[in-house]
Amino acid sequence: MRVTVNTIREMKQKGEKISMLTAYDYVTAQIIDEAGIHMILVGDSLGMVVLGYQTTIPVTLEVMLHHSKAVVRGTKNALVVGDMPFMTYHVSIEDAMRNAARFIQEAGCQAVKLEGGVTVADKVRRVVDCGIPVMGHIGLTPQSIHAFGGHKIQGKTPEAAKSLLEDAIALEQAGIFALVMETVPAPLATLITKKINIPTIGIGAGAGCDGQVQVINDILGSYTDFVPKHAKQYAKLANIMSNAISQYRDEVTTGKFPTEANSFPMDESVLKDLDR
Ligand code: KIV
Repeated sequence: MRVTVNTIREMKQKGEKISMLTAYDYVTAQIIDEAGIHMILVGDSLGMVVLGYQTTIPVTLEVMLHHSKAVVRGTKNALVVGDMPFMTYHVSIEDAMRNAARFIQEAGCQAVKLEGGVTVADKVRRVVDCGIPVMGHIGLTPQSIHAFGGHKIQGKTPEAAKSLLEDAIALEQAGIFALVMETVPAPLATLITKKINIPTIGIGAGAGCDGQVQVINDILGSYTDFVPKHAKQYAKLANIMSNAISQYRDEVTTGKFPTEANSFPMDESVLKDLDR
């Protein structure tokens, strides 16, 4: 049975930790789903780890919908959250509602995520009022990377910490079902987790959050341009892929591949007739 937003809310009440990973394609989504991960985020991080951009900013709504559809097709159990890309919920409440609806109606996601706190709370409220579950995202929100001046820890000063707590409370009041906190000091994330009743999902926010999210390519070691401090590599897929590809190249160039086992025979008489 598919995980729902109620399951996720109840997990916080019961003190059960929530697991979440990103996915951008059908095959990866299937593997994550079968492994029993509770939620899958079709993150706009795909701009970097799949499409090779420097930031998430060039990612469009159409691209996000395309990948979200593939991920949804690969899942039976996990709750799939579609990430609303840059400028698809900033201009107006109507834009936010219409674009959020596309993730649910066209892609088949069960929820959307958007970045920001107090300043997007009015949009969150209206999207939630449409019956669309929303996940919040505060701290180092990658769509504002230019405003932050790089990948910097957020919430370190008393003012910044207070403002993150206010963001979390405003989003909870606007109706989000869970809150991602990215690159925030662990003690602050723990405090915010205690102060709000909805689950917090950390990425670089310490062990005190109700759950954790990671970019799949970071934990598998398949994206090597940049390895964030908050990620732990559980595998080194880039090395495994590189070795396999080099072996394939060698076997093709030396004639070792394909063998008969990889080829298809045919009736010799047909060939004889052709070769007269
Ligand atoms: O796009 C993404 O992958 C995200 C996670 C880092 C939370 O927003």
